[in-house]
Amino acid sequence: MSDDAKSLAPSRRQFLTGAAAAGAGAVAAGAARAAAPDPLITEVQDWASGLGEGVDATPYGLPIKYESDVVRRNVEWLTADTISSINFTPIHALDGTITPQGCAFERHHSGAIELRKEDYRLMINGLVGTPLVFTYEDLERFPRENRVYFCECAANSGMEWAGAQLNGAQFTHGMIHNMEYSGVSLRTLLEEAGVKPEGKWVYVEGADASSNGRSIPLEKAMDDVLVAFKANGEALRKEHGYPVRLVVPGWEGNMWIKWLRRVEGVDQPVESREGTSKYTDTLANGISRKWTWEMDAKSVVTSPSPQAPIKHGAGPLVITGLAWSGRGAVTGVDVSLDGGKNWTEARLAAPGTDKALTRFYLDINWDGSEMLLQSRAKDSSGYVQPTKAQLREVRGLNSIYHNNAIQTWWVKANGEAENVEVS
Ligand code: MTE
Ligand code: CO
Repeated sequence: MSDDAKSLAPSRRQFLTGAAAAGAGAVAAGAARAAAPDPLITEVQDWASGLGEGVDATPYGLPIKYESDVVRRNVEWLTADTISSINFTPIHALDGTITPQGCAFERHHSGAIELRKEDYRLMINGLVGTPLVFTYEDLERFPRENRVYFCECAANSGMEWAGAQLNGAQFTHGMIHNMEYSGVSLRTLLEEAGVKPEGKWVYVEGADASSNGRSIPLEKAMDDVLVAFKANGEALRKEHGYPVRLVVPGWEGNMWIKWLRRVEGVDQPVESREGTSKYTDTLANGISRKWTWEMDAKSVVTSPSPQAPIKHGAGPLVITGLAWSGRGAVTGVDVSLDGGKNWTEARLAAPGTDKALTRFYLDINWDGSEMLLQSRAKDSSGYVQPTKAQLREVRGLNSIYHNNAIQTWWVKANGEAENVEVS
């Protein structure tokens, strides 16, 4: 900085302080206040007096080091090891609706495998006219589609059935991600192989040791299922199924086969043939629900929340969260500050779209008193997200999967939040 510029500094400092103070009146009380001269405004900082990093420093960009806490996290006591395990998306720290692949939750039954595109094969066999094998390049030659969908593990919020347990939206609701997928519709490939009408189901499996085989009704397979090779514009990450995964919109995550290897036309679900039953929900009377594929409407306030406390005291507060439904689009979200006694309609950042995450906001002037914060999603089928009590009445306490109950955060006067239940 030149001496001339330095000599101008005092008057500039005065001006900026005055402007910020005047601005505070225009914004709702308390949002922006400039008391003393702020050196970050009035003094030239290191980053403005030297040069930054050149363009090739990081050929593939990573988040800046100051965001190093925005990462997937594991709950160690949940599983015996990290091979057949799960971690959680840091939804408390994200905004918008698209989940970056690098922090999107992972769920593997036998670890994430490394499979080269050159070694990739997709076989379609069973009840089809012509069994076919596709290479990765073959798949690239079919007409492509781009669609945004959420993927939620059936076990998301599963630890919360019996009572409030994990302290953070990342852990209670973070088995979900939402990406823009590019790929080929499964229908196109099945038609290419000439799927036979007696094939009422397809059995899909992955190339990993677990294979994660699942049966999907042909009707769904011919509807909106995608064979995807890109997510958010770039190749799938290894942990999300590189080079090709199945996208089964609105249905539980375990059907979204990663490292997709085979699609077999079958006349009955393979699980029935083998006498196995996966992903069932045991009710209070001991009878289990099965074929519960669709993920019901659900929502959660992501901030404030236990990992995202209010740090600024009373005044303007942005309450925000995510809502979704496997049965259609989110049509509205209500927010309660008092544990469900009174509800206010939140603002959707964009109109809800089919089987994708919707971001909602409620901008309030917080009086600094404690809140029992809840959100409640409504979807295009007319369904309204239930309270925990309503869900337990129907489903009992023995389930792990498909907990879509309303979540409560107890936000204290000091801004900290805790996972609680209201009766
Ligand atoms: N596909 C294969 N091949 N192997 C797996 O272990 N896990 C399933 C599904 N597809 C799995 C799989 C489960 S239970 C879920 S919830 C989703 O993948 C998770 O996808 P993600 O790891 O990309 O988040
Ligand atoms: Co899962």
